[in-house]
Amino acid sequence: MRDAGLREFYDRTYHFGEDADRPNPDRLWRALRELGPLEGTRFLDLGCGVGWATRLAAERGQVAQAVGLDFSRTALALAARAPRAAPTADGRAGRTGPASVPIAWVCGDGLALPFPDDSFDRVFSFGSMEHFPDVAAGFGELARVLRRGGCAVTVVPNFYVRTAQPVEHRATARGWRTLIERAGLQVTRMTGDPGPAIFKNRRPGRIALRLGLRLVGSLPPLRYQFIVALRKP
Ligand SMILES: C[S@@+](CC[C@H](N)C(=O)[O-])C[C@H]1O[C@@H](n2cnc3c(N)ncnc32)[C@H](O)[C@@H]1O
Repeated sequence: MRDAGLREFYDRTYHFGEDADRPNPDRLWRALRELGPLEGTRFLDLGCGVGWATRLAAERGQVAQAVGLDFSRTALALAARAPRAAPTADGRAGRTGPASVPIAWVCGDGLALPFPDDSFDRVFSFGSMEHFPDVAAGFGELARVLRRGGCAVTVVPNFYVRTAQPVEHRATARGWRTLIERAGLQVTRMTGDPGPAIFKNRRPGRIALRLGLRLVGSLPPLRYQFIVALRKP
């Protein structure tokens, strides 16, 4: 682990409890869909947090193998405890189907992934790569564990977005493209993520801020985050 202090922040301070209680499956699924067909694939959720995207891929995407990796033990404990089934569109836990795929929750560092080369057909990373202390090395690891011809999606913030996390790499669409292509990956498509739900919580100041960001983000160069679809040639 390169930075124990960072991990400590996520283990002790980050709002994983709120994330576990308030999933946003529509927002996650919009990004997951950019991976193309998921059925029967080996799927990695890199920086999975409390694991909602991992569960969606397993339940709705019917992947053959689902792995959620994060370096925070707090996140993984919540992930393992959360309802097994992906939530329904209104955010309630769905039913667990008989064809459920077992999920492996792995505690590991995104900068030194504990998997051999070419282990996965699909890699997904929502709001995590930008928090790695060496983003270029993170994309290098993503590229290493993805098989040739495999697809990945990363959701990353525009240059003006700020959260309360200690490390946050922000860039324009062009900046992200350059960084990703240097890792040997091809950018196949870039679309926009509108940001957190406006009524994610009931604090009036936060609601007003999220409304403002939604307006600003309706202009393509000012999208809140980029959903970047990638392919390993
Ligand atoms: C903003 S949260 C996003 C979590 C999840 N993807 C989601 O959509 O809710 C960032 C995540 O990245 C994880 N993370 C940050 N640096 C990491 C690293 N070097 N290795 C593995 N996970 C890391 C954090 O523990 C946290 O779960």
